[in-house]
Amino acid sequence: MKILGLILELALVCSLQAYIDLGNITSQLTGEWFTIALGSNVTQKIEEGGSLRLFIKNISEQNGILKGTFFKRQNGKCVQFSVSAKREPGSQMQVEYDGLNKVFLQSIDSTHAIFILHNSNDGKVTTLAELYGRTPDLPSEMKRKFEEICETFGIRRDQIIDMSNDDRCSNLS
Ligand SMILES: *[C@@H]1O[C@H](CO)[C@@H](O)[C@H](O)[C@H]1NC(C)=O
Ligand SMILES: *[C@@H]1O[C@H](CO)[C@@H](O)[C@H](O)[C@H]1NC(C)=O
Ligand SMILES: *[C@@H]1O[C@H](CO)[C@@H](O)[C@H](O)[C@H]1NC(C)=O
Repeated sequence: MKILGLILELALVCSLQAYIDLGNITSQLTGEWFTIALGSNVTQKIEEGGSLRLFIKNISEQNGILKGTFFKRQNGKCVQFSVSAKREPGSQMQVEYDGLNKVFLQSIDSTHAIFILHNSNDGKVTTLAELYGRTPDLPSEMKRKFEEICETFGIRRDQIIDMSNDDRCSNLS
């Protein structure tokens, strides 16, 4: 039983760490999204005033380039900005924002998407996890799934911030 448990655990870890190939899923990524939760092993980055506390608005695609439009709070104001994702071979995207971000899609269906980012800035690497929803909130099972994925990337439960009650600068949109 112990061995079976171990095998199952290993299978779970492997499946959780297998990134999704971005080849055919662009249409699943585009459209309107809401930031539901953020996790990071450097929580200052996602706390109020943190450079990676970002609210997704939408994702669009033009000529194979994905563009994300976000809001962030800056000096008490909501600011809109966009970033483009350079697609790397396989499952990786690169986004320049607050340094360089390697972005991997970890999970997606018609209701949610989970991204893992490795942000490099001034030689420091921060791991960031983002849970996006098609609706302003998601069921708790999905938040639990997010917590599990975070854990496999070294982000603890107390390093996750639920954003579903934040106004996410929505008064701007
Ligand atoms: C994308 O879809 C096409 C047609 O459905 C298929 O032939 C191709 O292998 C897929 N590519 C990837 C990377 O999944
Ligand atoms: C994304 O949202 C911004 C801000 O509301 C809007 O200006 C832009 O037209 C939207 N883009 C798409 C492709 O929906
Ligand atoms: C956060 O995670 C990255 C990537 O695993 C690691 O290089 C970095 O040292 C971690 N930072 C902290 C403060 O744990």
